[in-house]
Amino acid sequence: MFDNPLTPDHILQTGTAFWASKALLSAVEIELFTELAKQAEDLQALQNRLGLHERGAQDFLDTLVALGFLNREKGIYSNAPETDLFLDKNKESYMGGILEMANNRLYPTWAHLTTALKTGQPQSEEKDGDDLFLELYADPAKLKEFLGAMTGVSRGANMTMAQQLPWSDYSTFADVGTAQGDLAVQIAKAQPHLKGMGFDLPQVEPVFEDYVEANRLSKNLSFVGGDFFTDDLPRADVILMGHILHDWDLEQKNVLIAKAWQALPEGGMFVVYDSLIDDERRENTFGLLMSLNMLVETLGGFDYTGADCIGWMKAAGFKEARVEHLLGPDFMVVAVK
Ligand SMILES: C[S@@+](CC[C@H](N)C(=O)[O-])C[C@H]1O[C@@H](n2cnc3c(N)ncnc32)[C@H](O)[C@@H]1O
Repeated sequence: MFDNPLTPDHILQTGTAFWASKALLSAVEIELFTELAKQAEDLQALQNRLGLHERGAQDFLDTLVALGFLNREKGIYSNAPETDLFLDKNKESYMGGILEMANNRLYPTWAHLTTALKTGQPQSEEKDGDDLFLELYADPAKLKEFLGAMTGVSRGANMTMAQQLPWSDYSTFADVGTAQGDLAVQIAKAQPHLKGMGFDLPQVEPVFEDYVEANRLSKNLSFVGGDFFTDDLPRADVILMGHILHDWDLEQKNVLIAKAWQALPEGGMFVVYDSLIDDERRENTFGLLMSLNMLVETLGGFDYTGADCIGWMKAAGFKEARVEHLLGPDFMVVAVK
């Protein structure tokens, strides 16, 4: 009777995973890690500083200890090394933008996943059939939050691409759908011989310019405003698209790939990166969940496998295309014209 190796543990852990997720997201929302980076504190001091009610405060902080996000020694709470590095707003390495957006937008949107699964319709700002980006960008706070979130989610992959690609063969690049411009910034820092452009909707320009200026790279990088469905892409030796193709349906993906082909010279390089789904569609859970995120967020977006992307690139005329791993769930597909 007790030999059955099956337990419901995995089911229960996954079914209640949002508890842990929301505890972390609320900690980011109240800037707990930023406060603790300034000074380690005891329960009473944190309650006062962060305006927490006494009923939940200790359980909340100790949950974060149990999850490994905080340390507690003799009643004094401090950040764990990862939260200190990545979730202190005063550090350049802060990547909490994606968690701020997860808390404010994705968490409520995902509550309607079942509706999206039954209707195929997004549950985000795009619900009424409007372009997600135009909806977001009409609100300056959402614009800033979204662009900061992109930097948070992409920084590690951006730094890897800045090193891993054969940059010495090229002199210009255009990062298409650049958002705040972190990929362009990381490439310019690592490869000072390159001149780069960030291409995005015109509303993004001030946020890009501020970020490039703050990184003292205005001589190496410039902004080109436009709509990648109605305008040509800027001509460059290398065209990059990070987390772009997954936002759109198949027809739109093919339009963007064809535009990259047109903008490149013979021998030019096209780099696409996303959390690719593994070709067998069974292992890269993050890539599959990201595709469901595109379901609830966008009108027609979906994530895809490396084999899918290579197929689209070859159909558009690219000679070679290969998949390379970046970090964690992120992969790039590198094609040559
Ligand atoms: C998901 S974000 C990716 C940002 C960044 N490449 C990264 O990986 O972190 C998509 C980007 O595409 C831009 N975008 C959306 N529609 C666009 C359009 N029609 N023309 C140009 N850029 C667009 C958005 O403004 C946004 O910066």
